[in-house]
Amino acid sequence: MVGRGMLASMPRALVTGATAGIGHAFADALAASGHDLVLVARDEQRLSSVAETLRGRDGVQVEVLRADLTDDADLQRVTQALTSTSAPVDLLVNNAGSSLAQWFGTTDIADEEKQLDLLVRAPMHLMDAALKAMSGRRGGAVINVASVAAFTPRGTYSAHKAWIVNLSRWAHLHYADVGVRVQALCPGFVRTEFHQRMGVDPGTVPRWMWLKAPAVVRASLKDLDRGKAVSIPSLRYKVLTALTRVVPAGVVAKVAKRGR
Ligand SMILES: NC(=O)c1ccc[n+]([C@@H]2O[C@H](COP(=O)([O-])OP(=O)(O)OC[C@H]3O[C@@H](n4cnc5c(N)ncnc54)[C@H](OP(=O)(O)O)[C@@H]3O)[C@@H](O)[C@H]2O)c1
Repeated sequence: MVGRGMLASMPRALVTGATAGIGHAFADALAASGHDLVLVARDEQRLSSVAETLRGRDGVQVEVLRADLTDDADLQRVTQALTSTSAPVDLLVNNAGSSLAQWFGTTDIADEEKQLDLLVRAPMHLMDAALKAMSGRRGGAVINVASVAAFTPRGTYSAHKAWIVNLSRWAHLHYADVGVRVQALCPGFVRTEFHQRMGVDPGTVPRWMWLKAPAVVRASLKDLDRGKAVSIPSLRYKVLTALTRVVPAGVVAKVAKRGR
């Protein structure tokens, strides 16, 4: 269960990528705290199964929205849910994401476009809809799931995450005046389906670098309550991220080059 704090004033949340990994952990934690939910992902069966479990366990209302966020018409249906006045969304978790296994310049440009759509274009549209609706009501919050990859030069994935961190930092300041909180959540490696979907062996990553999705979500919600613009879960990643600011950029790029 998440702390009560300001989240108690946000009864309805929309989570993208809510059927697995970090998004599922958000849905789980929010439902356990009594939040009604709108769950978004592509796999309808999985969505229904998660929704049924949360309804049964926590007695909350859970709506499912099957959508591929790289598809224009689907994306529009999700933005409509965010601007609903009859069932307003108080918290948007822009989480759905994936990455390509190969480096930019060796990948198919059509796959790069899909990745850009999922990691940049979709969150931009959803954040735009949410900010318009929330600032009109003078309250709400947006959590954009980025990554510590935003702080190192590592191809298009890290460039997309840097984009969302930058926009979130600005929006955090700009929308504070109308009572809307914005956070960029920047986890390190998290045990989810992400690497398996990418076709990358997670065994190449040292064990100490792995975080658990529920702990990442607890840190994010705690930091949202504290009003932090950027949430970096765990001390080890706070230290690593601080190092990227003081170590020469060339060294960071060299280390980052080693792995995905
Ligand atoms: N795992 C890590 O190490 C890590 C680290 C830092 C940041 N992140 C970020 O955390 C976020 C969540 O990743 P995760 O690790 O939890 O991944 P995950 O376990 O693979 O889950 C991804 C979720 O996104 C949904 N999704 C994927 N493509 C979609 C699309 N086109 N339209 C709608 N939904 C889509 C998936 O459901 P469907 O397949 O049914 O659509 C699933 O629910 C991502 O933004 C990722 O970049 C992950």
